[in-house]
Amino acid sequence: MSEKNTVVIAVANHKGGCGKTTTVINLSAELAKMGLSVLVIDLDPQANASLHIGKKHPSEIAVTCAELLLSEVEKLPLAIQSDTNLEGVSLIYGSLALGKTEDELKDTAPRPSEELREKIKPLHGIFDVILIDCPPSLKLLTSNALAAATHLIIPVESGSQYGMYGVTDLLKMVEKIRRINPKLELIGALLIRHDDRQTVCKLIEASAREQIGKLLEVKIPTSTKVNQSAIAQMSLHALDKHSKVAGEFRKLARLIAKNLNLTDGSKQDE
Ligand SMILES: Nc1ncnc2c1ncn2[C@@H]1O[C@H](COP(=O)(O)OP(=O)(O)O)[C@@H](O)[C@H]1O
Ligand SMILES: [Mg+2]
Repeated sequence: MSEKNTVVIAVANHKGGCGKTTTVINLSAELAKMGLSVLVIDLDPQANASLHIGKKHPSEIAVTCAELLLSEVEKLPLAIQSDTNLEGVSLIYGSLALGKTEDELKDTAPRPSEELREKIKPLHGIFDVILIDCPPSLKLLTSNALAAATHLIIPVESGSQYGMYGVTDLLKMVEKIRRINPKLELIGALLIRHDDRQTVCKLIEASAREQIGKLLEVKIPTSTKVNQSAIAQMSLHALDKHSKVAGEFRKLARLIAKNLNLTDGSKQDE
């Protein structure tokens, strides 16, 4: 059996509410539907991804990202929960304690930005894809995600005139992290809540293309199904696979799988 070439995709933008968690959840579900083995790492103290796809409450989990980051690598198997609400998707839970973990890392870790990368090294070759959901800040948790990642997606809220606010700070951080992770590759900006007919969306699209450089051709529309799927703790695929928004996440998964050589396409779902 050939070893998998694991890709680690950080989904980052310190702007809150721009669609990071929604992207991680639905991209992971669609990639798993294609037959790929997927792990989600929830690095956000608010643990929204864990509340959505985890079967347990983060407070019931002995080893979340918070404990993993501060412990020895031996704890890694305890951190990976394979029984989640998304078929084929495993989860390392986030938890409120991650806020404190960030402070402790700063004070005690020899290389504070590289703890996650060290801790998940044994997973290279095990999963096809690891998706990291980042917190809404540009502090150590996000730098850990960027240092551990091979690839980066930047969700941008297209329907808001403030969608690009602060993106230059994120890009500066990416450049800094490239000193310790030179191979970090930008997959592109992903427009969320996009509507081609709206002027604001056109402006944000042009600005994202110019400032971020790479723009994914798939764009995610606004849909009330997104909130419905969170309430039902399902992916959009499971809630309504024929909906436009589910279809766009499917296209996104296929595009990424193709561009990153993740599959030969033989297992693609209908
Ligand atoms: N395409 C969309 N259509 C409608 N609502 C969306 C869409 N994407 C995200 N949302 C909603 O916007 C809010 C923020 O999204 P979320 O993915 O949690 O952002 P972040 O993780 O960046 O904070 C959530 O309530 C989510 O359900
Ligand atoms: Mg989030």
